[in-house]
Amino acid sequence: MDFKKHIASKIKAEGLSEQEIYELLAVPPDTAMGDFALPCFRLAKAWRKAPARIAEELAAAYPCDEIVCAANALNGYVNFKIDRAFWARQTLGRILAERERYGASEEGKGKTVCIDYSSVNIAKPFHIGHLSTTVLGSALYKLHKFLGYTPVGINHLGDYGTQFGKLICAYLRWGSKELLEQGGLRALNELYVRFHAEAEQDESLNDDARAYFKKIEDGDPQAVELFEMFNALTLKEVGRIYELLDVHFDSWAGESFYNDKMQPVIDELSAKGLLVESEGAKVVDLSAYDMPPCIILRSDGASLYATRDIAAAVYRKNTYDFYKCLYVVAYQQNLHFKQVFKVLELMGKDWAKDLVHVAYGMVSLEDGAMSTRKGKVVYLEDVIAKCIEKSLAIITEKNPSLENKEEIAKTVGVGAVIFGALYNNKIKDITFSYDKVLNFEGETSCYVQYTCARANSVLEKGGAAGELSVPQELAVQEFELVKKLAEFPEVLQSALEKYEPCFIARYLVDLAQLYNKFYFDCSILNAEPSVRAFRLSLTECVLLTLKNGLGILGIGVPAKM
Ligand code: ARG
Repeated sequence: MDFKKHIASKIKAEGLSEQEIYELLAVPPDTAMGDFALPCFRLAKAWRKAPARIAEELAAAYPCDEIVCAANALNGYVNFKIDRAFWARQTLGRILAERERYGASEEGKGKTVCIDYSSVNIAKPFHIGHLSTTVLGSALYKLHKFLGYTPVGINHLGDYGTQFGKLICAYLRWGSKELLEQGGLRALNELYVRFHAEAEQDESLNDDARAYFKKIEDGDPQAVELFEMFNALTLKEVGRIYELLDVHFDSWAGESFYNDKMQPVIDELSAKGLLVESEGAKVVDLSAYDMPPCIILRSDGASLYATRDIAAAVYRKNTYDFYKCLYVVAYQQNLHFKQVFKVLELMGKDWAKDLVHVAYGMVSLEDGAMSTRKGKVVYLEDVIAKCIEKSLAIITEKNPSLENKEEIAKTVGVGAVIFGALYNNKIKDITFSYDKVLNFEGETSCYVQYTCARANSVLEKGGAAGELSVPQELAVQEFELVKKLAEFPEVLQSALEKYEPCFIARYLVDLAQLYNKFYFDCSILNAEPSVRAFRLSLTECVLLTLKNGLGILGIGVPAKM
């Protein structure tokens, strides 16, 4: 329920509309003062009175009811207190009725949102640098779905470019089917690394590579077959990781998908007088917008990454008629997306305003970053495997008799990797630390999962709570929990607006901390019957909300830990 709306509807303050009052109502820093506060400073001039006087008059005139139990003036503010029992009845009643749908909404109904995420490169390692785009994109996908939107997950595969010529060249010289069958993507990457090392000695390798790339483009059967083998190998391996992380896509249309879709776009650019020659290349001049030119065709006639993105945006608009199209891509590509969006705008696409670059920072391990070219790569699969292994060790130590340990360790380990990548504002660079993401007392998913297991066990011992009954007086710990629970839908809302799943992650840690405080301070199972029933309901609501939140982030919840 919207308490601000209720309060605003009952205040008569000449000079301020109900809407203005609604917008002025804020949450005071200290709950002890009140739950909502109306600052009266803006009225001082019109009323020719001191704000403190105005606050007193408004407070005295306010009609309290079963929802608002007090209105008090303090230092020019009117502080409103919501009836605790009412708040609890409302909140818990709603959660117990909506359950797995608590926090969900229909606000996105009829709106399609394309989300371009993960977008791995064929034949390149799936390394820790891909973690953020993959889990951020997937969380945004699930969040949009939960709020009623129709998300379309797109893996814009990097399956086009001269590197495939290099790979074929390297494969034919030093590789074999057996090598790739055994070594997979890693063996492929080693070939790539070797190519660069050898090409430093022998320039002619680069000419060879160019020739092979041309062969792929011309549809030469051998070249295409090899390229498709690299493709299949990559998709098989990344598919394994996506399955572990519970990440899905609706479209795998990669860069090469746009091979035959660029010409119409190039023609349109040319017809609109946007293409200019520059040193043999065809570019869109963006100097009026303080940007370097966007190169559309190289001097040898080849298209570029940007050309493909422009064609892809047009294709997506035509195919999905999106309400928004998000690109979850590292901030290193800020300029690229600014250029692409600007070119589309100059082409007169009014929907260019609906394209959003959701930029995020870098992830590195504690021992430093990595580089694909030189072969120092941290494979995401290794990071996940190590987290699962460490989880198993911790769980075994904490709870040796636990059944299904392997399964649980997987849920905990995978959750730790996801949560570790989602806990900070996305634009921040992060250093991934195993100890940090697996700290059971820290700001981690295992802490939240552990809290769920605790709540589960309370409910198991306590039995069904029965019909919701709320005592007239609430303990502070109980009320803090109720208030936090009530915030969940708003948290989802702002996470969506700002494209920040970290709001959800932080909220879950806060809620888990409040529950644990409540758990230690208030006895649940030994409380007198009516209080006991209420506390069991509260426990159930916390569990439902934690599960819903973790689910959106793509993290599972073991029943026991
Ligand atoms: N494959 C690219 C890379 O690894 C990311 C592609 C992002 N999506 C896009 N539409 N440009 O850098």
